[in-house]
Amino acid sequence: MNEKLEKLYSMNRPDKESESKPQIKLEFKIGEKDFNVAGESALKVKKTLQQLGLKTEVVRNVAIIVYEAVMNVVIHANYGHLKVIIVPEKVVVLTEDTGIGIPDLELAMKEGYSTATNEIREMGFGAGMGLPNIKQYSHKLNIKSQVGVGTVLEAIVYLSFKDKIVKAGVV
Ligand SMILES: Nc1ncnc2c1ncn2[C@@H]1O[C@H](COP(=O)(O)OP(=O)(O)OP(=O)(O)O)[C@@H](O)[C@H]1O
Ligand SMILES: [Mg+2]
Repeated sequence: MNEKLEKLYSMNRPDKESESKPQIKLEFKIGEKDFNVAGESALKVKKTLQQLGLKTEVVRNVAIIVYEAVMNVVIHANYGHLKVIIVPEKVVVLTEDTGIGIPDLELAMKEGYSTATNEIREMGFGAGMGLPNIKQYSHKLNIKSQVGVGTVLEAIVYLSFKDKIVKAGVV
């Protein structure tokens, strides 16, 4: 990993303070042009959250975030990885990629804005709705990007008291 990328990633470590709390971490590699990894990782995360007894709505929201974030790495970047960290009060979805980066984040967040190629659009993607949906379904969204280097996306879904993993008896 190059120095610039390392610096970019270190700016955005997920929740240092939660590292001492009980947590479940799922990790996936996102390979180049790996169009299956988004669906596969979303399904795996969904199953894990269901097993933990989290609310249907939370499970669905996290699965959508995972799918859209991973798809963006596959479509717009070169490669990267996904981490999903489940701690008692929240689920953190983190993607880190090596790629062209996002020159204008505000523009990228707009509904309908997409730089997807015709080829990608023919595959049914490129509606420019991924990032707006991630924003809608998460409580907190933090994106850091450097042109020509890569992008780090962190989305957090907080769990209401009743959904706490501790209460579900898993940790
Ligand atoms: N990881 C990324 N690396 C580089 N550019 C990105 C990344 N994620 C998003 N973008 C940029 O932000 C734009 C908007 O992303 P968004 O997910 O909202 O739409 P989309 O991926 O183009 O279409 P859809 O998600 O609806 O299939 C993308 O078209 C692309 O220009
Ligand atoms: Mg997208």
